[in-house]
Amino acid sequence: MRMLVTGGAGFIGANFVHRTLATRPDARITVLDALTYAGTRASLAPVADRITFVHGDICDADLVNRLVAETDLVVHFAAESHNDNSLADPWPFVRTNVVGTTTLLQAVRTHDVRYHHISTDEVYGDLELDDPARFTETTPYNPSSPYSSTKASSDLLVRAWARSFGIRATISNCSNNYGPYQHVEKFIPRQITNVLTGVRPRLYGTGANVRDWIHVDDHNDAVWTIVERGELGQTYLIGADGEANNRTVVETILELCGKDPNDFDFVTDRPGHDLRYAIDSTRLRTELGWTPTYSDFRAGLTATIDWYRTNENWWRPQKDATEAVYAGTERVTGAGSRH
Ligand code: NAD
Ligand code: DAU
Repeated sequence: MRMLVTGGAGFIGANFVHRTLATRPDARITVLDALTYAGTRASLAPVADRITFVHGDICDADLVNRLVAETDLVVHFAAESHNDNSLADPWPFVRTNVVGTTTLLQAVRTHDVRYHHISTDEVYGDLELDDPARFTETTPYNPSSPYSSTKASSDLLVRAWARSFGIRATISNCSNNYGPYQHVEKFIPRQITNVLTGVRPRLYGTGANVRDWIHVDDHNDAVWTIVERGELGQTYLIGADGEANNRTVVETILELCGKDPNDFDFVTDRPGHDLRYAIDSTRLRTELGWTPTYSDFRAGLTATIDWYRTNENWWRPQKDATEAVYAGTERVTGAGSRH
C-alpha cells in the first residue's frame, strides 16, 4: 500500500505515521508537509529512514498532482488547526483548509485515488452544558470560528466531489485529541509545560467549557477502520466518551504533577468560545466495530505528562514563542481557589 499523508509532521499526522508503521510494517508512506510553525521533522525522527518526506504545500497543484499520481491512498491531515490563531488572522485557514483541500480533491479526481478526509466535531457548533444530546452524523453544520468554518467548508467540498465527480472518499469528524507530539499552543500541552516550567496554568473564562477527549492513537485506529471498512461517500464521527470540563482537566494535571490543584489562573475568555462538544460514535462502533482502547483519561494524561517531562528537547523550541503570542491578548482575571 502506497500512501500519501498530508500534514504528517503535525500532531495527529505524525502519530498516524508512527502507528501505521508499527501496525502495518509494509506501508510505503510519503509525508507531504509545509513545516509551518505547527510542523516539525523532529516528530518523525524515530521513523525518518522508513518514510519519504516531501517539504511542500498542499496548495501547490503541480506538486500535489505528481504525488497523488504515485499513490494508492491519501489521508489528509494538513490544516491550520488552532482556533485562537484563526481569530487573529483567518487567511491562512482559508488558504490551507479550503484551497489546499480543493487542490487535493482535484488531484484524487484526476487519478482516481482513494481519499480519507480528517475533520473535526467543531463543524457542528456547540451544545449546552445540560443538553443530553450529542453530535451525530446528521447534526446540522453550525461552525462558530474561522477555523471551524473553514473545516466545515472543506467537508462540504469533499461531499460535493464525491457526489458530482464520484471520487472514492470518506470523512471523519473527531473530538479533541491528546497525546505525544501535540504543539504547546493547545490546551493540555500548554498547561503541562506551564507546570513543568513553574508557570501557573491558564483557564479561559470560568473553565466550565467541556471538551470530549480522545487519545490520538484511538483516533488514528478509527481512521484506519474507516479507510479499510468504511462505506465510500459516508461520514463517521469519532469519539471516546471523554467529556470533561477544562477546570477539571487543569486540576487533574496539577494533581498528577504533585502540585496544589488550585494553583491556576483564570484569563480572558476566547471570543465566541464554544461551550461544549460531545460525540455519539454509535455508527462507527456498530457498523464498523471500532472501540477505543484508552478508556481511562487519567491514565492517558499521566502518560502524556511523562512524555512531555522526558521530551523537553522536542517542545522547548516552541514554548517561548507560543507564550509570547498569548501574552499579546491574555489578561489574568482571577486565581483558582478551593470550591
Ligand atoms: P497540527 O496543527 O498539529 O498539524 C498540522 C500540520 O499541517 C503541520 O505539520 C503543518 O506544517 C501542516 N500544514 C499546515 N499547512 C499546510 C500546507 N498548506 N501544506 C502542507 N502542510 C501544511 O494539527 P493537528 O492537531 O495534528 O490536526 C490535524 C488534522 O486533524 C486537522 O485537519 C485538524 O482539523 C484535525 N483535527 C484535529 C483535532 C485535534 O484535537 N487536534 C481533532 C479533530 C480533528
Ligand atoms: O474538537 C476538535 C478540535 O479540538 C480540533 O478541531 C482543533 O484542531 C483542536 O485545536 C481542538 O480545538 P479546541 O479549541 O477545543 O482546543 P484548544 O486546545 O485550543 O482548547 C481546548 C479548550 O481549552 C477550549 O475550551 C479552550 C480552553 N483553553 C485553551 C487554552 C490554549 C483554556 O482554557 N486555556 C488555554 O490556555
